[in-house]
Amino acid sequence: MTARPEKRRFFVTTALPYANGHFHIGHIMEYIQADIWVRMQRMHGHEVHFVGADDAHGAPIMIAAEKAGKTPQQFVADIAAGRAQYLDGFHIKFDNWHSTDGPENHELAQSIYLGLKANGLISTKTIEQFFDPEKNMFLPDRFIKGECPKCGAKDQYGDSCESCGAVYAPTELKNPYSALSGATPVLRSSEHYFFKLSDPRCLEFLENWTSEPGRLQPEVLNKIKEWFAKDEHGHGGLGDWDISRDAPYFGIEIPDAPGKYFYVWLDAPIGYLASLKNHFAKGQAANHWHPESRTTQSYDEFVADPAVEQVHFIGKDITYFHTLFWPAMLHFSGRKTPTQVNVHGFITVNGGEKMSKSRGTGIDPLRYLSLGLNPEWLRYYLAAKLNSRVEDVDFNPDDFVARVNSDLIGKYINIASRAAGFMAKRFAGRLGAISPDGEALLDSLQQAVPGIAELLAEREYGKAIRETMALADRVNEYVDQNKPWELAKQPGMDARLHDVCTTCIECFRVLTALLKPVLPALAAQVEAFLRCPPLTYANATTPLGAGHTIGVYQHLMQRVDVKLLEALFEPPATPEPDQPAPGGEPIAETISIDDFAKVDLRIARIEACEPVEGSTKLLRLTLDVGEGRTRNVFSGIASMYKPEDLVGKLTVMVANLAPRKMKFGVSEGMVLAASHADEKAHPGIYVLHPWPGAQPGMRIH
Ligand code: MSP
Ligand code: ZN
Repeated sequence: MTARPEKRRFFVTTALPYANGHFHIGHIMEYIQADIWVRMQRMHGHEVHFVGADDAHGAPIMIAAEKAGKTPQQFVADIAAGRAQYLDGFHIKFDNWHSTDGPENHELAQSIYLGLKANGLISTKTIEQFFDPEKNMFLPDRFIKGECPKCGAKDQYGDSCESCGAVYAPTELKNPYSALSGATPVLRSSEHYFFKLSDPRCLEFLENWTSEPGRLQPEVLNKIKEWFAKDEHGHGGLGDWDISRDAPYFGIEIPDAPGKYFYVWLDAPIGYLASLKNHFAKGQAANHWHPESRTTQSYDEFVADPAVEQVHFIGKDITYFHTLFWPAMLHFSGRKTPTQVNVHGFITVNGGEKMSKSRGTGIDPLRYLSLGLNPEWLRYYLAAKLNSRVEDVDFNPDDFVARVNSDLIGKYINIASRAAGFMAKRFAGRLGAISPDGEALLDSLQQAVPGIAELLAEREYGKAIRETMALADRVNEYVDQNKPWELAKQPGMDARLHDVCTTCIECFRVLTALLKPVLPALAAQVEAFLRCPPLTYANATTPLGAGHTIGVYQHLMQRVDVKLLEALFEPPATPEPDQPAPGGEPIAETISIDDFAKVDLRIARIEACEPVEGSTKLLRLTLDVGEGRTRNVFSGIASMYKPEDLVGKLTVMVANLAPRKMKFGVSEGMVLAASHADEKAHPGIYVLHPWPGAQPGMRIH
């Protein structure tokens, strides 16, 4: 290993979240892990560029956007607009947040592809895939359903069976249907582009790259070796990777291949570079961490610098992409490869409660914040549980309360609150000398700083926290031995009281430096209270010294109120999308059958449907209710349905409602539709649709 430069240069990323949903607790855990690491490097004085972005492309996002009646660009922008409140809320400080649909990514993806092509690593092959003849598009595996070829279970996805666990190709499903339109898919062939990972050059490069010491965790390397291995029939090993998708697709066009787009996983990691480039272009790169570079630094210079260390934080489910495809893409397009890929496990809640991909676990990060739970409690708790291995982390509410209240508050915060009052009341905030028996204590804390910083660098956060709390225990023992509350009552013990409290304050400052990457907001409060410059690993070991005046102590952190934590696990305000949304309003008062009979509900056929000029909410429906004439009805369902989706369909209407004059014309009835009482929090309105066989004009009893 080469010696580390005094000032290191880092490019740090977290995985780019799909832009089809808000952050869940798994995302927040990953960002907190990386944010702690970045803050630790900055406390060493190193230069760090920490970037993220939304992963905007792919079929699922395109389809979700269509369902929401938005363009994919608008859909993704709406999700992006919600990111900051989570990141700011948990003190996660990216230097830049961008999108894989940004111009930098289009340009970089095409350039990397052309590099691979020039290297002879792109091939084409015609393959057969399921095509939805109604939607006119090739179906991603997730959108093909049918009966499991092994056990016959109905409604299974195109890649695997949830009932018997079998894995298969979508073409093996029995009675397949498109989850988008219900149509029976047909096999169609199309030319696809492949990254030739089976080329011996790739295997050779990757075997070397992955086994470089310090690059990957041992268990990750073991997994990769399995992926490299071929069985006795010569099967397995690295296969060519299909990197193209046919239009319509929300993605980046492949150069010189009309109608072909890069598969989302090709351009997604390139988004790391795109966000970095965007960050430099904004001129923020020459930031306060590295002001001297303001005039010289450019993206091109930075990414070419062999000294720059590129570090990725990812979850275990996306290891393959980051340890095989991504380094190979970079290397064979003539670029530098990542220095380190750090893989973490998944967060579970209450001993492994299943996490829904779309909504996460029972802990909704925004609900956590809005209930007034302190974000640094979560940062501390997760840090105390994280290590450098690929292990899942369980959020256990009792454990959370215990660690925050007994350790963080009871051990660390307690030191300041025990000493600060006397400092202010008796000594006007002026520090005295370290007590003779405190010298060794303070010295041992200072000696521990490099080792604990190194534990953080190795992502052994749990160990770092344990060692820090062991130091806090020793400071508390010192307080218990010296009993400042008794010294304060004894005449002639002023000097002794002064030294003891000074020792506590100096020790508290060192402990604060050790916890600062984990608790940045609290550390800032402490720096203000101690009236000291921002803590670094270098200055933490120099005491403030006798004569320094500290500020007035204000309580730094509350204990966790168990009731708040219980409220976090109450049924969330936002419903699980996989479950029916609760209506949000109580059932109305009881009526008699005669009351109900007053409402004449009829089956109606939607003969025509059109948008209403001047209204984004309304659609104008022409309805046949079997009266030999049609009715004109306005309905506030434009956010959910396009006119062509409705024409020819049956629905249910109130046929004896008094006609109502509206701005756009007279409405002669009302179409039945379901929605939540709180439309803002739970948007969506769903038109009723009768079972087959109902005819226009039939009454509903
Ligand atoms: N868009 C891809 C990543 C592209 S990176 C070039 C993706 N997005 S994701 O939103 O599904 O996941 C983003 C990150 O969150 C991944 O690192 C993933 O492992 C992580 N997590 C998702 N669920 C998680 C937990 N329950 N716990 C911890 N992290 C988890 O994959
Ligand atoms: Zn099955």
